[in-house]
Amino acid sequence: MPEDTAELEARLEEQDAFEPPESFVEQANVSDESIYEEFEQNWPQCWEQAADLLDWDAEYDTVLDDSNPPFYEWFTGGELNASANCLDRHLDERGDEAAIEWVGEPVDEENRTYTYEELHREVNEFAAALRDMGVGEDDVVTMYMPMIPELPVAMLACARIGAPHSVVFAGFSADALATRMNAADSQFLVTCDGYYRRGDPLDHLSKANEGLGGVEHDVEATVVVERLREGDDHGHDLADGQHAYADLVADHEGEEVEPVSRDAEDMLFLMYTSGTTGKPKGVKHTTGGYLAWTAWTSQAVLDVKPDDTYFCSADIGWITGHSYIVYGPLALGTTSMMYEGTPDHPDRDRLWEIVDEYDATQLYTAPTAIRAFMKWGTEYPERHDLSSLRLLGTVGEPINPRAWKWYYKHIGNEDCPIVDTWWQTETGGMMVTTLPGVKTMKPGSAGPPLPGVDARVVDTEGNEVAAGDAGYLTVNKPWPGMLRTLYKNDERFIDEYWAEYSDTESDDMDDWVYFPEDGAKIDDNGYITVLGRVDDVLNVSGHRLGTMEIESAIVGVEGVAEAAVVGGSHEVTGEAVYAYVITEEGYDEDEEMRERIVEGVDSAIGPIARPEEVIFTPELPKTRSGKIMRRLLEDIANDEELGDTSTLRNPDVVSDIQQKVSGD
Ligand code: PRX
Repeated sequence: MPEDTAELEARLEEQDAFEPPESFVEQANVSDESIYEEFEQNWPQCWEQAADLLDWDAEYDTVLDDSNPPFYEWFTGGELNASANCLDRHLDERGDEAAIEWVGEPVDEENRTYTYEELHREVNEFAAALRDMGVGEDDVVTMYMPMIPELPVAMLACARIGAPHSVVFAGFSADALATRMNAADSQFLVTCDGYYRRGDPLDHLSKANEGLGGVEHDVEATVVVERLREGDDHGHDLADGQHAYADLVADHEGEEVEPVSRDAEDMLFLMYTSGTTGKPKGVKHTTGGYLAWTAWTSQAVLDVKPDDTYFCSADIGWITGHSYIVYGPLALGTTSMMYEGTPDHPDRDRLWEIVDEYDATQLYTAPTAIRAFMKWGTEYPERHDLSSLRLLGTVGEPINPRAWKWYYKHIGNEDCPIVDTWWQTETGGMMVTTLPGVKTMKPGSAGPPLPGVDARVVDTEGNEVAAGDAGYLTVNKPWPGMLRTLYKNDERFIDEYWAEYSDTESDDMDDWVYFPEDGAKIDDNGYITVLGRVDDVLNVSGHRLGTMEIESAIVGVEGVAEAAVVGGSHEVTGEAVYAYVITEEGYDEDEEMRERIVEGVDSAIGPIARPEEVIFTPELPKTRSGKIMRRLLEDIANDEELGDTSTLRNPDVVSDIQQKVSGD
């Protein structure tokens, strides 16, 4: 007799540990627990297992060179090409199989399938075009593109010729594009005319052009993919030095470009991410270590096999898309899905329709999306057959047990393991999560560190905390996928990630500890629950935003004297931006001002950073030394009991602000 729904809900509610389904274990890429022990005994040689997933032009001599910490080098002496690893080597056996299944947002449009053969051809043609335009080895090419297939084509074309890419999320503003191009001294841009959002075409080229206006050096060439073109009507006039993507590819039809052998430690790409200061950090990833890491984790954690149709709903403009839509899955020769649009267009079942239509085997998404699905209700997934799914994953922020269980039951039909994967732009790939064919799952807890990963939870002195106590997450040994430095800024690299817990004078690896700036706790079984950032970085819908970046956008608005930004908890997005603003004399604290502030943030960063609340206040709570007490502002945003106010210079301001927030 099947359980009735109420019984089932009650049982799920109480259950705090879930075993991997037998049907999954039987076929899992990794199903033997001994891997943990084996990797520990054999560290760092264990990582040969990851390197073995790749084809090398020249074999490496050493797995890890730790002679100059924290500037570790992996697979030294080895040479390889990432594009050849993601494409060429699959041609013989899988040339006719789909590499990318792309689904555009408009429902009446034809979707596109790129077989490995087709993707290889277009990557070669575009690589030839880039070379022709003067892109040389080590030139940084910026991409400012949405979820269209030409984005992975451009990334792989760059990888083919040894030009690092720097992808800027399409939702970022023109200013954000300019800042990143300036920081990377990037002289080439690949962008597009526009794309679709909730059914409407959205102009993107104007924003790109505006960004180009802010670039301080000469830009050699811009390539524009005409996603919105109708027939031969370009819709946009391209300026001098701007090339239509389709023309370039046609001009180089059938050309092949020999993949450049890159040193394992050569830069594959840069990715700018938010940090504590207003200036984004250029995280540098390398060819050998990064590719080995993403391939190995795709295989071990996402259980990717060549015959899968694997679906990650992230945007390629963020690290998740780089690692787990493009590099990891394609290195393994599987079919990777890409969806252009939002999950609620034309209706709230769009993702489920895609899973059903393509028989997707894995779904990797963010807790914020799961919370939205939960809010929308079960009728949407119930419209579709989701039985093709074998594994579910989440990434980007902590997932609350209720959302985990909803995902497990209503999407996975209690038949798919869930991997809650903790990692960062800087780690290149997953670090803490369960191996799905091996480990018990505990909703809300990411799991133990992966085999070979030495992650711990420590106190301020660096000593491991007792089970159940809160502390800070650290990684005490290097790993192949790690960032190598911040672009052109070794000093900031050490300051940001290592200084806290390392003896920075030492050249012994054991004295160096990586600090991801996350709070965490650990249980008796070594399962880590990540509690969130401990620096001034917010996590809105799984997207990383620096409070300083948002504050400087707000103080850039005419009439704003001072601003403080903190995160308030939000049912769907996890955190929401709360902005406390002091206006200058003579400016009204009215709706118009509020709108100008939101617009200011939009144009400096992008809509994702828009404040949910703008609270005008005559003063900000400050310590006697003049430091803003953000903790109090956070307590107010979250409607929590206030922490200690005794060190405040101006304690009265707190109750004033509280009244304003509750009165809003
Ligand atoms: O705070 C952690 C949170 O996201 C941060 C990294 O953000 P970003 O570099 O943008 O990369 C996101 C995609 C990997 C982390 O420092 N985070 C990421 N995954 C989890 C998480 N917090 C809790 N649980 C996770 N699974």
